[in-house]
Amino acid sequence: MITTKGIFKSFAGKTVLSGIDLDIKSGTVFGLLGPSGAGKTTLIKIITGQLGADSGEVHVFGKNVKDLTGDDKKQIGIMMDDHGVYDRLSVADNLKVFCDIYGIPYSGIGKALEEVGLADSAKKPAAKLSKGMLARLKLARVFLIEPKILFLDEPTSGLDPMTMKYIHRLIKARRDAGCTVFLTTHNMEEATVLCDEVALLNEGKIVERGQPSEICRRYNHQKKINIHLKTGGDVSFAHDAESAGEIGRLIEQGRLETIHSSEPTLETVFIELTGRKLEAEEEIRYA
Ligand SMILES: Nc1ncnc2c1ncn2[C@@H]1O[C@H](COP(=O)(O)OP(=O)(O)OP(=O)(O)O)[C@@H](O)[C@H]1O
Ligand SMILES: [Mg+2]
Repeated sequence: MITTKGIFKSFAGKTVLSGIDLDIKSGTVFGLLGPSGAGKTTLIKIITGQLGADSGEVHVFGKNVKDLTGDDKKQIGIMMDDHGVYDRLSVADNLKVFCDIYGIPYSGIGKALEEVGLADSAKKPAAKLSKGMLARLKLARVFLIEPKILFLDEPTSGLDPMTMKYIHRLIKARRDAGCTVFLTTHNMEEATVLCDEVALLNEGKIVERGQPSEICRRYNHQKKINIHLKTGGDVSFAHDAESAGEIGRLIEQGRLETIHSSEPTLETVFIELTGRKLEAEEEIRYA
């Protein structure tokens, strides 16, 4: 559905993207992960034709992005941070403006507002929306066009966990209806629960890619089974027959409180690969 081959991009002599190859399957949620400044937004802009690459090719719907027709572009929803809403217009009027720009009828507005749970706030001025409602309005705007592909640049950045989960459900529902979703995030937990495939971008290169759980299994260097006992102690066991007996006995004796395999989280893998903390944590540290 979306492929890139050998994308390079520099700004003022500084290389930001250094040979990006991607192949995103139809009907999946793809997550581009990376620290701040890694080039995620730049790559979205290149793939959506908002910015030219220095070299390399982008194909969307099997066509070079430069050859997309107006009709093709109408099937691509793009939600970026710098695509603001009109503060003084109501929620519904914001969507009407968007319909006018895209040349689509207003008849879909009610359904889009229902979908994101904003039907009761249709008349509210956008300036009075909470952060979470604003994020949902921005989603309603891209849902209006019934996109075949959605590009979402940090769709849940700065949102509370409940709103985040709500937005995850909306994104998954779109995916289940056949839409291909390309999103960026700093949040590895989000990527783990939301994305079918992820790619880790660091210093202009994709340093790892695959299904989140599969990546975590691949970096399970310890291969241990970690048990917390009801008495409070922690014990680790190797993956072998001898351990099976001992673990079995702990269960029989009712001494086992929790049991976990030792594969790392995506966040730990990311830190191992990049030697870098994620932006959110850096922000807290330097705040
Ligand atoms: N138009 C531009 N002119 C000059 N430099 C730019 C421009 N756009 C981006 N950059 C630089 O390219 C690098 C990558 O920026 P980009 O916005 O793509 O990162 P990002 O991964 O989206 O970061 P964030 O997570 O903070 O959104 C940064 O160093 C940024 O300063
Ligand atoms: Mg960005």
